Amino acid sequence: MIKRLKGMRDILPDEIGTWQYIEDTARTLFETFGYREIRTPILEETSLFIKSIGETTDIVQKEMYTFKDKGGRRISLRPEGTAPIVRSYIENNLDKADPLFKLYYIGGMFRTERPQAGRQRQFYQIGVEVIGSENFYIDVEVIYLMKAYFDKLGLADYTIKINTLGCPKDKKSIKKELSKFLSKQINQLCKDCKVRFKKNILRIFDCKVEGCKAVLRSAPKIIDNICPHCHSHFESVKNTLELLKVPYTIDPYIVRGLDYYTKTTFEVTHPNLGSQDAIAAGGRYDNLVHETGGPRVGACGFALGQDRLIMALGPLKRVGASLDLYIACLGQEPYKQGFKFCNELRLNNISAEIDYLNKSLKAQMRQANKRCAKYVSILGEDELEKGIIILRNMSNGQQREIKISNFIDEAKKIFNK
Ligand code: HAM
Repeated sequence: MIKRLKGMRDILPDEIGTWQYIEDTARTLFETFGYREIRTPILEETSLFIKSIGETTDIVQKEMYTFKDKGGRRISLRPEGTAPIVRSYIENNLDKADPLFKLYYIGGMFRTERPQAGRQRQFYQIGVEVIGSENFYIDVEVIYLMKAYFDKLGLADYTIKINTLGCPKDKKSIKKELSKFLSKQINQLCKDCKVRFKKNILRIFDCKVEGCKAVLRSAPKIIDNICPHCHSHFESVKNTLELLKVPYTIDPYIVRGLDYYTKTTFEVTHPNLGSQDAIAAGGRYDNLVHETGGPRVGACGFALGQDRLIMALGPLKRVGASLDLYIACLGQEPYKQGFKFCNELRLNNISAEIDYLNKSLKAQMRQANKRCAKYVSILGEDELEKGIIILRNMSNGQQREIKISNFIDEAKKIFNK
């Protein structure tokens, strides 16, 4: 038997209601905040991710699905959504259409990480990107929107942690300070961090090894090494978050696993998720658009892991699974009539279902129950002869007869269509 690939999953019809509910809620809320959907290809040139995410990051070095296509081009399955959206923004000259774009996306991402609970090789992100402004109010709006979304879904107990990385100049000076500090303790670092020390020193903050974490506890803090402009940006973000009553904690060690960030960065963790506890993350990336070949415009966004969000939410009450009407039929002629009704009802936005497997009436009633049908109509030879159809309200068991000629109109009345 052919099985699915490691780290990939099937989302089955019984689960899909939750996924659709989460996506629909995102669409409605994000659009109320003025965000518009964008869909970019799943495959991109590998160089896009190397340039934007950074050559020395784990994502680029270890986690991308990269291969050559028939034309010999190196292409990759997208490991995240920000870089493709920036590419699309530039390629489609969106800056000429509007100075500020507020975008959202929902879709599959791919990373060849070691699979474990909450970590898949194909996972789904819901994210937003605002491109065109360095205004700190955008940072706050993005974080506020993320919180509003979690609250709307009823997610509890999450923590929003924020930090700042400063501007590229600040990043340089932080790297210098850190290098001075760590050069004296290089022997206490793990093998990977020794490489990071040479290639991309800020990545050491991502290390999960206890020994490295202990060394970093007394390392110079990024926040103490940023310029007055970035400092004031961060202060404004914090003050405005407070104004909007968004609770946050400051985590001076959030550097994020992608190189494109500047100024504000943030992560959201949830206690139900075990070791993979990051449910969402994001921040500002003011240089990415220009470095990818576009105009000098600020940008900020976040992405949340949909798989992890569903884990953290726990079982939701069944959403979107119930059926308006099940048409149970007995006999060939009644079935013909029932089949016609079923399709007419559907055209009137009434979800209707009928049996296709020649089941007995009893089995059809069981099926209606299984599908949580609100109403069942019963049509046999006798009813057909009398020109009536029986309609049963499944919530109170009440039953009545309706003229066949009035059936669709009656159903429309019941379901307000
Ligand atoms: P990221 O931190 O790499 O950021 O991913 C965002 C979220 O995607 C994570 O917090 C996590 O919930 C989920 N995620 C990541 N990898 C996996 C995985 N292997 N399995 C399941 N879930 C996963 C980004 O991707 C940035 N593009 C976010 C961003 C948008 N920054 C600015 N705009």
